[in-house]
Amino acid sequence: MNAQETQPMVRTVASTQSEMTEIILPNDTNTLGNLLGGRLMHFIDLTGAMAAYRHARTHVVTASMDHIDFIQPVRLGDLVTLKSSVNRAFARSMEVGVKVWAENTRTGAVTHVASAYLVFVATDEHGRLQTVPQIKPETADELRRYDDALRRREHRERENARRKEAKLAAARKDGGKAKP
Ligand SMILES: CC(C)(COP(=O)(O)OP(=O)(O)OC[C@H]1O[C@@H](n2cnc3c(N)ncnc32)[C@H](O)[C@@H]1OP(=O)(O)O)[C@@H](O)C(=O)NCCC(=O)NCCS
Repeated sequence: MNAQETQPMVRTVASTQSEMTEIILPNDTNTLGNLLGGRLMHFIDLTGAMAAYRHARTHVVTASMDHIDFIQPVRLGDLVTLKSSVNRAFARSMEVGVKVWAENTRTGAVTHVASAYLVFVATDEHGRLQTVPQIKPETADELRRYDDALRRREHRERENARRKEAKLAAARKDGGKAKP
């Protein structure tokens, strides 16, 4: 029996909740002293992966990161706190929501600065896709996120299919000369 076979089939959102806090140092900032968007995306990816690991209890890879809103800049010296949880699990993938706040260490003011949705896919140590437990939403907010996650998945699938079709049409027009 492998480790996954001993895992429960359903988990709560609360069991996936994860959090990390970073202090923003000069290396993390641009020439204006604001946190670099790419650095914030790295923090988002890490915090998102924590929730996905807690849900899948196996290896996970980031399949997509979509709909990131950078609402406010984060300043040098701020404390950035990121919170994540699994919104919904599908067959082998999970949508994770990540919310980010910045705290001004002098005034104590806390501002919501970014939000993002990521999809992680579960694999074994050889990269073979693995099924994941389902999610049981328990609160009104969790139920809303659970429903919205399905709508976002359908939107992603439509967009992926549209992009694939556009690529094929371009290749046909090009007579197969274009490099992949
Ligand atoms: C993500 C990955 C494992 C998907 O592999 P694949 O063979 O295309 O998978 P499939 O088409 O069979 O789909 C498997 C699941 O992944 C989901 N998925 C695949 N591509 C996706 C995408 N671009 N966005 C969201 N979900 C995606 C599918 O919806 C499916 O979910 P389900 O099983 O819950 O229904 C593969 O594309 C991969 O390894 N990508 C690189 C991952 C990586 O290196 N990440 C770090 C980036 S820096």
